[in-house]
Formats: sequence, C-alpha cells, structure tokens
Amino acid sequence: VSEPPTDRAVTHGMKGGGYYDAHSEFQRRIVEGGAVAIRSVVAGLDLATQRRSLTVVDYGAGTGATSVAAMGSVVDAVRERASDLAILAVHNDQLTNDFTQLFAAVAGDGGYLGRSGGPVYPAAAAGSFFDQVLPASTVDLGMCSNAVHWFRRQPSVDFRGMYFSAADPAARRALSAQAAEDWLAFLRARHAELVPGGSLLVQGISTTTDAAGVEHASAALLLDVMWEVATRLSDEGVLDRDTLDRYVFPVYCRSAQEASAPLGPEGALRGSFEEETADVEEVANPYWELFERDRDGAAYAEVYAAFVRAFAESALTTHLFGPGARQIEPAVLCDRFFDLLRESIAANPEASRYRAWILRLVLRRR
Ligand SMILES: C[S@@+](CC[C@H](N)C(=O)[O-])C[C@H]1O[C@@H](n2cnc3c(N)ncnc32)[C@H](O)[C@@H]1O
Repeated sequence: VSEPPTDRAVTHGMKGGGYYDAHSEFQRRIVEGGAVAIRSVVAGLDLATQRRSLTVVDYGAGTGATSVAAMGSVVDAVRERASDLAILAVHNDQLTNDFTQLFAAVAGDGGYLGRSGGPVYPAAAAGSFFDQVLPASTVDLGMCSNAVHWFRRQPSVDFRGMYFSAADPAARRALSAQAAEDWLAFLRARHAELVPGGSLLVQGISTTTDAAGVEHASAALLLDVMWEVATRLSDEGVLDRDTLDRYVFPVYCRSAQEASAPLGPEGALRGSFEEETADVEEVANPYWELFERDRDGAAYAEVYAAFVRAFAESALTTHLFGPGARQIEPAVLCDRFFDLLRESIAANPEASRYRAWILRLVLRRR
C-alpha cells in the first residue's frame, strides 16, 4: 500500500482482525511482568485529594488484548484503595489502528468492565503519541508498553542491513539522534498531559551492554535473518534493491542511559520529571521455551513467524514491499517474505532466536 510522499508514518498499526492479539504472547508476558510496577505506581498516586475521577491512558495500546490486561491491573489496584472512584480508561493508538478489535476486547470476557466498584469509562484517544493526544493536565497515570521503540517517521539511511544495531557508525549516530528527538517529543507530550504528581510507566525492548562491554540489542538476530530473506527476494528480482538498501526497519531500542538522558542535569527536560525506577531485565521468550520443550522446528517457526508478522507486516508493507515490489503484488510479496522467514527459522532456530531486554521506566511529573 503506497502512501502520499508526505506521510512518513512508520506503521498503520498491528495486524488487525484479532491477528496481533492471537500472536503477541511475548508482549503479553512483558505487560504481565509490568503489573508489579503498575501496583506500586498506583500505590503512589495521591488518591486522598483525588477529585471525582482518575484518568488513565495506555499509549500505543494496539488491538486490545494486552492493553485490556494492563488497564485491568490498574483498575484492580485502584479499587483496593478507592472502591468507588470513577475511572476514565483511555486507549491511545494511531488513527488507523483496529479500534473495533480493541473495544471488542474491552467488552469481552477478559475485559475490565464487569468488575465491582465505581464506574469505568472506556475511551479512545486516536493520534500519534509523539504529539499531545489529550488536553493538558488531565492525565493521572500514563502507561506505554512495547510501543515507543517505533520511530515517528521512516528513517532514511543506507547501510548493509535493516536494523539500527547493524548500522555503520555514521548511520547509527543518525538513527540514535532521530530516536532521541522522538523520545523528547514523547516525553514533552506526556509532560503536557500529565497532572503535576502524575505517573508514567514506559516499558519495552531496549539495548543493554554486558559486563564484558558487549552490546545486546533486542531482536537483533531476528532482523539479521529478515535482512537475509529480503536480499534473497531482491536476488530473485521481486524486490527492488535500491528500495531495500535504503530501508530501515523503523524501530530503535533505547538503552536505559539514552532513556534517562533528557531527564538528567544536562538534559532538555531536566526538572520536568523525577525518575523513580529504570530497570532492565531479560524477559524469557515463550516461543523459544516451546521449542526447547518440543524440539519441533516447524511448529516453532510457525508461531514465531506469526508473532513477527503481527507487529511487522504494516511497517514492511508501507515502506518496503509497497514501493519495492517488482512484477508481484505487494501483498503476495509479503506472503512470500513470511513463507521464507518461516523456512529460515525452521532450518536454523538458533540463528534468529529472539532475545529481548525490557526496560521499565517509572517517571513522576513534577
Ligand atoms: C507492538 S504494539 C504494542 C501494543 C500493546 N501496547 C502491547 O503491549 O501489546 C505497538 C503499538 O504502538 C502503536 N504505535 C506505533 N507508533 C505510534 C505512534 N506514533 N502513536 C501511537 N501509537 C503508535 C502501533 O500502532 C501499535 O499498536
């Protein structure tokens, strides 16, 4: 699907119709792991002087399943402290997101509407989280899971590979600088929306450096294999080589240091937020666990490739398959890409093993 040249949004959302929700076990695990942080953030909210309602926002909510789980954790934690307080539960995502699917999850069995206590009002705030999506000083608690690693605009740099971790030093600097600008925009928008004293929990894939000084970027091996698959399609003549060479998968995993930099004494946002925690932990991969249990490469490749397709299809179609397909429909090229990816994963499970180091950052607005 090609876009007008002025529109450089990187993704139109996760694969809709329930596909993302059915293939996001990894993201669900990260959200579940964040429930402890949610409880402690809610414990720190000033509910004593709380007026009539509490506004909670999940930024980059996706198509429902995970966002509903995160919001449910907030509702439960609030109910323990203020059983009758009305809650405005806002789900934010791009305008093009599958909000129908999202609200089906809100209303479904796993939703948070049927709980006892005060009313909960589900709502949507559609728009880019790099801008303000709600009125100033109205948000008490913000959350963002597995989302702010997406770039705001499609990067345009040239190197051998399609992920920031494979970039040569100059390209890496350009991508880091673009990601830093995006992060500033995100934080500025949240600073505007949050009430003074309001909290923000941001969690998602990061880059970490081990004791030996070796850098580990989440998902790096997967993106290496995706690059190899794409170059094979280019060699077959169905994917334009120039388009592929310029293509960058539009994700950047900030390190804890990069995430904290704007808040520090030299940072552009010094004094705006208090950093309460910034923890990084590796979260175990549910698909790999399945493989270790069953040693069934084909079954593993099936669920792993579906997980990748759920989050990557829109981004790949918009800026790679759409403009780059040659003598083949972009949608057919996309199918072919994921067939080859599945075959590569099955043939060598270790080569594309997905590892993710999750950064959980809790900020309080001053
Ligand atoms: C991998 S999904 C995560 C969904 C959910 N939070 C979860 O943890 O499963 C990333 C989401 O971020 C959204 N997203 C990406 N860029 C965005 C932006 N600029 N503004 C709002 N949402 C964005 C995507 O549309 C997608 O739904």
